[in-house]
Amino acid sequence: MKTILSGITPSGKLHIGNYFGAIRQHIAMQDKGDAFYFIANYHSLTSVNDGGEVLQNTLDIALDYLALGLDPEKCTFFAQSDVPQVTELTWILGAICPVSLMEKGVAYKEKVSQGLNPNIGLFTYPILQAADILIYNSDVVPVGQDQKQNIEICRDLAGKFNHVYGEEILKLPEEHIVESVAVVPGIDGQKMSKSYGNTINIFDEGEELKKKVMSIKTDSTPLDEPKDPENCNVFALIKLVADEEKTKEIAEKYRAGGYGYGHAKKELIGLLDDYFAEARAKRRELQENLDYVRDVLREGGKKARKRAETVMEPVREATGIIKNS
Ligand code: ADP
Ligand code: TRP
Repeated sequence: MKTILSGITPSGKLHIGNYFGAIRQHIAMQDKGDAFYFIANYHSLTSVNDGGEVLQNTLDIALDYLALGLDPEKCTFFAQSDVPQVTELTWILGAICPVSLMEKGVAYKEKVSQGLNPNIGLFTYPILQAADILIYNSDVVPVGQDQKQNIEICRDLAGKFNHVYGEEILKLPEEHIVESVAVVPGIDGQKMSKSYGNTINIFDEGEELKKKVMSIKTDSTPLDEPKDPENCNVFALIKLVADEEKTKEIAEKYRAGGYGYGHAKKELIGLLDDYFAEARAKRRELQENLDYVRDVLREGGKKARKRAETVMEPVREATGIIKNS
């Protein structure tokens, strides 16, 4: 059976772009192989330096994924930091990684070009990500288009390690990019992203959800006139959460005229409420049962460490790093 692996950085609330771009596929793939999903809390330290916040974000992501349908009976779900072998392998990979490979990193270059002072953690972020993948002998890594470069770096590093130490010790993952839905637009029409402050979060409800949906940017076509659904940010979101029939019905209303963006926004709120109703109820339930959530992570960590140790043993042997205890 193939090993599927992906990580989720806990750096804030999850939005519907994350859901349709990544989370939905993660959940669907738990039935397609031996899936490992982890919360990348070490990665989050490159951007969040508040211990309380990191801890809270980690727990929040665990609640979110379990509420959205991740089943700990079907996959191994854990926190990155519960597998110390990951940081051990990171150091070993760092020792064979050319500085020039990291200098090509897009995320790092972007921060530099914005005039920010990036930290070493951000510079070497792809090495930690490579260790995450290689430590479980992963075959398939479902990620968004934006992570493509990091997967390529992982393959480069595994190939280099095997070449330097003369054996096929590390397994190169097949490249795997999730066929994501088109980029989900945010309320301002740009790509929905935490960093643009334009998100609709999966677990937004009531007034908060209403305020955000009502502020989605639309053009100024008057209410009576026909409108093009394919050119509308509201409709782009409707399409994600409505079934085929409902989508068609709303598209017809757009084209007929007499249907305003306000009407479409109200329908979108109802559709979002329906789409995520079950997950919201489940999340409230889990919130009352945090011990269960911690148990899931603890058990997942145990399983993940066991697998990681089988990869670390030959790595230590090849590199001459002998454990004396
Ligand atoms: P953000 O841009 O909000 O910081 P992340 O970079 O943490 O989001 O993305 C986590 C995952 O969600 C990635 O796999 C990414 O491809 C996916 N994703 C994020 N925003 C969108 C979007 N607007 N549309 C589709 N997928 C998205
Ligand atoms: N960098 C990924 C993101 O921001 C998260 C991540 C960390 C990851 N380690 C990983 C994804 C290993 C896949 C495999 O989305």
